[in-house]
Amino acid sequence: MNYINLKARAKINLTLDVTGIRDDGYHELKMIMQTVELYDSVYIKKIDKPYVKLKSNLEWLPTDSRNLAYKAAEIIRERYKINKGVFIELRKSIPVAAGLAGGSSNCAAVLYGMNILFGLKISRKKLAEIALELGSDVPYCLMRGTALAEGRGEILTKIAPCPKAWIVLAKPPVGLSTPAVYKAIDSLNIEYHPDTDGIIKAIKNNDIYEISSKLSNVLEEASIPMCPMIGQIKEKLLLSGAIGSLMSGSGPTVYGIFDDIKKAENAINVIKDEFKIRDVILTKIFNA
Ligand code: C5P
Repeated sequence: MNYINLKARAKINLTLDVTGIRDDGYHELKMIMQTVELYDSVYIKKIDKPYVKLKSNLEWLPTDSRNLAYKAAEIIRERYKINKGVFIELRKSIPVAAGLAGGSSNCAAVLYGMNILFGLKISRKKLAEIALELGSDVPYCLMRGTALAEGRGEILTKIAPCPKAWIVLAKPPVGLSTPAVYKAIDSLNIEYHPDTDGIIKAIKNNDIYEISSKLSNVLEEASIPMCPMIGQIKEKLLLSGAIGSLMSGSGPTVYGIFDDIKKAENAINVIKDEFKIRDVILTKIFNA
């Protein structure tokens, strides 16, 4: 095998709770993660030269060790003493620095792809350990589907697949720094925490309406003051027929859940029109 083509999918958070701060500075999290169909294409090809070469369709995206996909390939080459190199081409469709785990998902795809391409037979457990060295969301991106993520995000419990629904993603045209959002939450008194057990029950009952009524992300309390458009888009999505709406991860992307594609398409027009934003995308819940 000389090359491999993979789909690195985006994720949304159905819930995100912060339950404490750890000694290492990371936060103790409890969140329900869900894969959506939206993906970046990741093409990985063996090359004879002994290095990693990364290319993407976004000319401003770093193609060196600042890119998690590059780092993933380097770490596998080093640890498994691979003499050959790889050429990686990313075709990005997932908005960057958006709370959708695009970079983490590219990284997970490279770990998975290198394992197959070079016949390394790295166990799932070992691959998940390497994934965590690269980022808190990377182990989940290897697993995909509907999952409860705890600890830094790496303690993963698969739950029943979330029922199918249409998802509208809308990203305000600002970058929110993840460390800044987590830092801001430390000085706030979080009064309302997600009902994680309740939403897991709703997922098991296949009840998209109950799920939508329980969407909750404590990081909104920090992000909305930094970017009020997050709150405004949420409101507009609900007024346009979404059955639930939430900010994903540390933002700034907001999503709406729809039970009807016509309403979803109409909401996209409303959001584009009112907020003049480019990244408004129709996708679906994805379960492998
Ligand atoms: O692990 P990763 O590099 O993706 O994390 C990015 C940033 O998100 C961290 O530097 C930290 O500020 C914040 N974070 C956190 N607690 C977590 C995960 C991420 O504070 N469990």
